[in-house]
Amino acid sequence: MVLVGASGSGKSTWADGRYRAPEVVSSDELRGIVGSGANDLDASSDAFRLLDLVVAARLGRRLTTVVDTLGFDPARRLQWLSQAREAGLPAVVVLFQTPSEVCRGRNSQRDRPVPVRVLSAQIARARDVAAELPREGWDRVVVVEQGHTAAASAARPSAARPSGGLAGSAPRSHELGFVLHLSRFPWGEDPLAWLRAMAAAAAEAGFEGLSLMDHLIQI
Ligand code: CTP
Ligand code: MG
Repeated sequence: MVLVGASGSGKSTWADGRYRAPEVVSSDELRGIVGSGANDLDASSDAFRLLDLVVAARLGRRLTTVVDTLGFDPARRLQWLSQAREAGLPAVVVLFQTPSEVCRGRNSQRDRPVPVRVLSAQIARARDVAAELPREGWDRVVVVEQGHTAAASAARPSAARPSGGLAGSAPRSHELGFVLHLSRFPWGEDPLAWLRAMAAAAAEAGFEGLSLMDHLIQI
């Protein structure tokens, strides 16, 4: 999984909320390890050499790998894509289309803001990259807008799955889908209301469906 977005678009925060720390390979963190800090640009080439090593090692073991860099370099993106292909892993881009004023606002609140002109160039570059991604052959390009997942497969538009779980269509054949199987029925006085609440909660959690146990043997 390759994150793409300007500084302050929320890439690291998004990854932090969804993946375990070892699954996220961050150029900023590696700069902090081989250089004087996350912003030590002189340490970039060492940091990226290390990043390439970590990505290759993890993919070689078919481990989930989230690459947290700006994601703007097409050659690097294509290299990660082909490494994922070699490993037989799905390859996904997560594109952060955070409004520029939000990026600028967040940037200005940071201890070490990116220079304003640099950020403007990144925001412009992010728009160009968004146009390049559909041609690159990713299994899916997920667009994140202002912190929530908006949708979409730029590579295969028809394969985009609507969010909303139960209300959505069936999963694509190579994806796992999950249904919530209810095996206890503490529904009190109003079975219908209880069941409706279970279905709503399952839908919100992203389940594909709901099933009810009708015989003890099903356990
Ligand atoms: N932030 C926020 N709300 C979000 C996402 C991010 O308030 N939904 C804040 C974070 O707390 C952080 C700043 O915005 O202080 C930048 O977010 P970050 O995830 O670090 O952005 P990145 O895209 O990772 O920026 P960079 O490329 O500079 O690493
Ligand atoms: Mg970051």
